[in-house]
This record gives sequence, structure tokens and C-alpha cells, in this order.
Amino acid sequence: MNAATQFDVLASAAHPVHGYQAFTLGDFSFERDEYFVHIRWTTARGKPLSHTMDAGNFLRALMRDVGWGFFYGWVNFDSVFGTTNHYNTVDVFAGSYNASYKSAGADLLQNFPSEQVRLTFVAILENWTNAGFDPYAAPLETGTPYGRKNGANLAAVRRVRQLAERCVGLRDDLAMRTDDGGYPVNRAFADVPQDTPELHPEPGFENDVHAFNLFAYLSRSDVVWNPSFTSVVKHSFMCPTTEEHILPIIHGNDRVEWFFQMCDEITWDCGDKLTAEPRARVVMKAGDMAAMPADCRHQGYSPKRSMLLVWENGSPKVVHDILAGTSPVYPVTF
Ligand code: PHB
Ligand code: FE
Repeated sequence: MNAATQFDVLASAAHPVHGYQAFTLGDFSFERDEYFVHIRWTTARGKPLSHTMDAGNFLRALMRDVGWGFFYGWVNFDSVFGTTNHYNTVDVFAGSYNASYKSAGADLLQNFPSEQVRLTFVAILENWTNAGFDPYAAPLETGTPYGRKNGANLAAVRRVRQLAERCVGLRDDLAMRTDDGGYPVNRAFADVPQDTPELHPEPGFENDVHAFNLFAYLSRSDVVWNPSFTSVVKHSFMCPTTEEHILPIIHGNDRVEWFFQMCDEITWDCGDKLTAEPRARVVMKAGDMAAMPADCRHQGYSPKRSMLLVWENGSPKVVHDILAGTSPVYPVTF
């Protein structure tokens, strides 16, 4: 067996009325209807439970989980369902990081090879996303996720994250976004200057000395809440992104992340990573910086399209250092 056929996706036939397939992964099952997604599981004590999510919210969260390869640590779709990335395997859970579900024994957590979860989640995303709905787009810039099955939007859901190897604009690396390349300036950023910096590298250093207009690059992003790499130095990843409406997931950190609010404003709800207990509300205005500690979960609200620089520590070691207590959970102490 080769890797591509190692895991079967368990899917039903199309539903006779609304047309969507149902899916199974381990002891979890997933169904959608015209408005909702229903997740079902059986607890350790044998009690069958279900959880319901709005179909649009579910698809926007699923898009991020798939597109980001399960991200860093926890991707909570809401306060009940989500995944934890262990970087070769993934936990799929319901209620495991919600203090009330946990204490009632209403939770289930199962670990799978990452590829098995990825294949199942891609199949769900592709079957449940209708023509005209783009889960990466701001709600005001796309159609409805609701209704009976109506075609598909594979061009949108198969978009890959734009990851520079060194820096946007360097030779053989990600190109600047342009009108001709299919990236017009977003309606909210019509006033962002599109000029380019002057570069005067010494001969022989043209591929080492570099600068680009990051505001211009971001003004042409066609997606929201999708950090991309614009520069990479060892494990230091600069992941700027444009934001509008709600971050479709609640991120639980397995490392520290830094945020720099480049324009406009985002409000963050922060809570305890393990219990979901609320911990802080952080209002970030243009120019503000904040750090999300390694033991929190957070979700952002951006009333207008804004630019956010997320600075990630991509070290594969830092997670283990934090667990071992040799790297701090808080990046600064006051
Ligand atoms: C985060 O979880 O830190 C995050 C994710 C996506 C974004 C911004 C921040 O667009
Ligand atoms: Fe985060």
C-alpha cells in the first residue's frame, strides 16, 4: 500500500433530500444539513452525545485546520470540538478542553495519524462547500454556505497557503501580488500606497539585500484570517495576514505568539487553554503589540478589514522545552 491509499475515507452516499454525504472518523461522525453540522460521539461510559454547529462557522474553521496542516497546538472550532497537533499525529476531541464537559464525563478524545484526519477533513470540506461560498473569504465578500448541496468550490478550498522560503520578492521566491496576478487592492485598502522601496545592493548581493512594501502586499490579500510567511529566518516566521469579522477558530497555543497590529483594530477574547475559562480581553489598536502566552486560547474580532503581523516561533523543539519547563510559557515578566 502506498501512503495515498493507506487510509480510507469513510463516507455515506449522498442524502436523498439535502444531498450531503455523512462521514466517520474513528468514533466521531459528521453530518450536515441545510443550516447545521452535527457531530456525534459516544462517551467512555457508552452515552451517545451530539453537538451542533452553524454550517458556515464549521466550514470556515475546517478550512483553516486543513489549510494550516492543523496549525500550532489546538484548533478549537468552538468551545467543544477541535483538534490538537502533535506534528505526526492529531487528536480529534469533543468536550476534552471544556471544564464542564470534562467533569461530566461527556468528552471524547481520539488520536489518529495526521494523514488520516487530513484526508477525512478534506473530503468533508470539498463535499460540504457549495458553489459560490468561499470559507477563506470575509462574509461580505462571498456567497452563502447554507442550503441543499449545490455544486462545489474546489478552486477556493484547494488554495494553498502562500509561504515564502526566504522573503517575498526574492529570486525564485513568492512574487509580489499584482492586478495582473489576480490580486486587486481590497475595497478597504484603496488608500494604501503601492510604491516600492529603492534597493541599491552591491553587485553580487542582489539576492541577499532586499526590501518590499508589506502594506502594499497585504492590501491585495484575497483571504482573511490566513497568516502567510513573508519572511523566514531560521525558525522566525513573519506571518502577516488581513483580518475581517471573526477568527473562525479559537487557537490554543503550544508556544508563545506575538501580534503586531499594523492598522485598524482587533479585540481578542483570551481564555484558559485547557478549561476555556475566560481570562482577558485585549483591545489592540494600530501600532499595539501583544504576546499570547503558551497556556492560553484566543479568538479575535476585526470590525473592519485590518492588517495583523503574527510572529511565530517555528522551532519543532520549543513545544518540548515548554513542557519540560526549560522555555517560558510567558515571553516577558514585569
Ligand atoms: C492565531 O491563532 O494566532 C491567529 C490565527 C490566524 C490569524 C491570526 C491569528 O489570522
Ligand atoms: Fe494564535
